[in-house]
Amino acid sequence: MAIRVAVAGAAGRMGETVCKAVEAAPDMELTGRADPALDTPVANVLKEADVLVDFTIPTSAVANAREAVAAAVHVVIGTTGFDPNELKDLKGANVFIAPNFAIGAVLMMEFAIQAARHMAKAEIIELHHDRKVDAPSGTAARTAALMTEASGRPVPIHSVRLPGLVAHQEVILGDVGQTLTIRHDSTDRESFMPGVLLAIRKVADLAESPTVGLERLLD
Ligand SMILES: NC(=O)c1ccc[n+]([C@@H]2O[C@H](COP(=O)([O-])OP(=O)(O)OC[C@H]3O[C@@H](n4cnc5c(N)ncnc54)[C@H](O)[C@@H]3O)[C@@H](O)[C@H]2O)c1
Repeated sequence: MAIRVAVAGAAGRMGETVCKAVEAAPDMELTGRADPALDTPVANVLKEADVLVDFTIPTSAVANAREAVAAAVHVVIGTTGFDPNELKDLKGANVFIAPNFAIGAVLMMEFAIQAARHMAKAEIIELHHDRKVDAPSGTAARTAALMTEASGRPVPIHSVRLPGLVAHQEVILGDVGQTLTIRHDSTDRESFMPGVLLAIRKVADLAESPTVGLERLLD
């Protein structure tokens, strides 16, 4: 049976791309599009859904997820800029959160964590389109937190917002007489779709909720 998917933020840049990807997936059915811009609240799309995908704004994502879980609908969240701890201890359905659904970005984070253990200092430059509402990006905040955990040293973040950009991140590590730069570029929102579809397929079977990070669903 097809997984029934509703999208919150369906009129937004990411939401529209997710709707198209779900419609094109043979094992999924798009059953609802929620967005104030479409005059459709999340409450109206939950009855027909197994999974709610949320690409909205930080202040809406938590409330949407609570509403979905209360209706026994699993939730996949791509929205950034909120604290995942706000979704602890919810009962009734699972929550999966990823600050970045692009496989290349997940690898960039893994390589950066590995490098942070061996080099003296690191800083992150994250670059995004100028309509992004949060700074620093969720990806940069998570990369810095994981690198700090691995190295015991703080990792400063610099944010750039310019038209023409999509989502980019550079991790620069420095040591005596050398630097190492690890860079990832999402040049198209399509880069996030395989990760989003994977999360939709796996969210019902999570061992822990919320689960944070696409790397938790790989391998
Ligand atoms: N995890 C990832 O891989 C990834 C990738 C890109 C963007 N993002 C994040 O996704 C989010 C959305 O980005 P975007 O560029 O599509 O933004 P956007 O502004 O284009 O779209 C957001 C949409 O959410 C709608 N919305 C607001 N409140 C809502 C609510 N309560 N219910 C339903 N819809 C609501 C808005 O009307 C808008 O259409 C941001 O937080 C961004 O940082 C995450």
